[in-house]
Formats: sequence, C-alpha cells, structure tokens
Amino acid sequence: MKNNKIIAIWGNPNSGKTTLSIKISNELAKKNKSVILVMADPYAPAIHTVLPFTETKEQSLGALLSSIQISQESILKKCIPVPNTKNLSVLSYLHGENLRTYADYGKERVLDLFILLKHLADHIIVDCSSQFHHDLLSRGALELSDQVIRLISPDLKAISFYDASLPLLGERKYNVANHITVLSNVKPEMPKDIIGNRFGGIKNELDYSEELERQVLEARLFETLTDKKSQGYNKQLQSLMDNLFFGEDDHEEKEKKKEKKLKIPFLKKGSDA
Ligand SMILES: Nc1ncnc2c1ncn2[C@@H]1O[C@H](COP(=O)(O)OP(=O)(O)OP(=O)(O)O)[C@@H](O)[C@H]1O
Ligand SMILES: [Mg+2]
Repeated sequence: MKNNKIIAIWGNPNSGKTTLSIKISNELAKKNKSVILVMADPYAPAIHTVLPFTETKEQSLGALLSSIQISQESILKKCIPVPNTKNLSVLSYLHGENLRTYADYGKERVLDLFILLKHLADHIIVDCSSQFHHDLLSRGALELSDQVIRLISPDLKAISFYDASLPLLGERKYNVANHITVLSNVKPEMPKDIIGNRFGGIKNELDYSEELERQVLEARLFETLTDKKSQGYNKQLQSLMDNLFFGEDDHEEKEKKKEKKLKIPFLKKGSDA
C-alpha cells in the first residue's frame, strides 16, 4: 500500500459527487485495488439511496466518529461490504440519522480516521458534503486528502455556489488551486463554454449519460455502464482516473521486476551449490 491515496470528491449540490465517487471506487476495485468509500454527507445518508437492500447492522459512520476511541478493528467493523465486489466497502451515516444523532467529535478524530484508513485500503474515496463548513469530516477531507476533485454543474447555480463557498476555503491548507476541476453532467445544449470561462477554463468533463441516470434511479450505480451511448462518459472517466493514479501501475510493475531481479541471482546461487 505504498502509493495509497485519499481522494476527496467535492462540488456544488447535485453536481454528481456521489455518482462519481462510486464510479471511481468501482474502477479501482476492478483493477484489484482495495477501496473504502467514505460517504461523508450527514444530511441525506447515501448508503440507502445507492444500496437500498444491503443490510447495515448498525454500522454507522456517525457512531464511529463519536466513539471514545477508534482503531483499525473498529473501522473495519463499520465498513459495509458492497455486494458482488471484492475489496470494496462503504462507510456511511445510516437512514434516518443526522449530525445530532451522535455526540460531537473533534478535529483529532478526523485526523486519526484518515491516518488509520490509509493503512486499511489501497485507496480511500471520500464523497464530501457540499456544505463542508457544517461538516468537520468533509472539511477534514478537503484539507487532508492527496487530491480533491471539484465537480461543477454547467449552470448558474454552480457559479452562485462557488462565489459563496470558495472564499471559505481561502486558507493555504486547502490549496484550492490544486483541485482537479470537472464540468459534470454536461448535456449538449448547456452553456459549458460560458461556465468554463467563468472558472478560468475547466480541462475535464463528464458527459450526461442516460444509462447512468437510470442506474441512479434503480440504485445500480455499482454496475458498469455498458450502453454504446455511455462510451463518451466511460472514456472521460478513464482519463480522469489516469490523471489521478498516473504511474501507479508502472510503479507496481517496476517493483515486481526488482523482485524478479533479486530472485534470479539467488536461484543461480542455489543451483551452483
Ligand atoms: N454524468 C451524468 N449523467 C447523467 N446523470 C447524472 C450524471 N452525473 C450526475 N447525474 C445525475 O445528477 C443527480 C445528482 O447526482 P448525485 O446524487 O451523484 O449528486 P451529488 O452531488 O452527490 O448530490 P448531493 O449534493 O445531493 O449530495 C442524479 O440524479 C444523477 O442521476
Ligand atoms: Mg451526494
């Protein structure tokens, strides 16, 4: 787990944060990476909207955050495995809960959680709340993650949201200049150039996909998009993944080759003896 990363997905309300968090987690799991998807939003707990038939056995992220102590074991107990996947699990608030359901927790707890999570999976994906100023966990993810993806809807509401919210992330520790900006859920008729220019140019895009919209409605987001019309979205997702995890597989290949090199002289020695 040398190269493991925490990726925070943040953006204006309804911009596709939960959707993209799941798609990225899925792609990583398909590459045999272990992933913990943290659904940080305490306002509309996400697990029951994306996995409505999955048993949750009191595995609440809220309970974990407000417990007296956390450890790798206690985190693993709260991880909800995603059916039909290997090495992919979810931490989420549960149905009916809110920020007041559990006792308050502090900044240190968020730090501990992310440090421990880094030892538990190859990658941690955090589906943040748009309203990070009310949510310590999302704010912590924006500060502590290795990379932040900032989703932007191609509409005037997104401009209004960012003009109001970005000044709240003015401190250097948030490093907003380093965010990967993505214009999200783009339909051909949308004023994407105007919005893009307004944000000083946005390099990444994720197109609207009818199949994906259906997956959301049918709670099937953990499935792959196979429709021909989703090819554009799939390509854009891959290029975003390349951007995020660039060189990771190369590094693993190099490590394997190093291991092989070490083994061969050893074998030769053995055969000489
Ligand atoms: N690329 C896409 N193609 C089609 N629909 C999309 C796409 N991205 C997002 N959506 C739609 O946008 C809506 C919002 O998506 P999602 O719930 O992922 O957003 P969110 O940012 O997590 O919202 P919230 O702020 O409520 O947490 C969903 O109904 C989903 O169908
Ligand atoms: Mg969401």
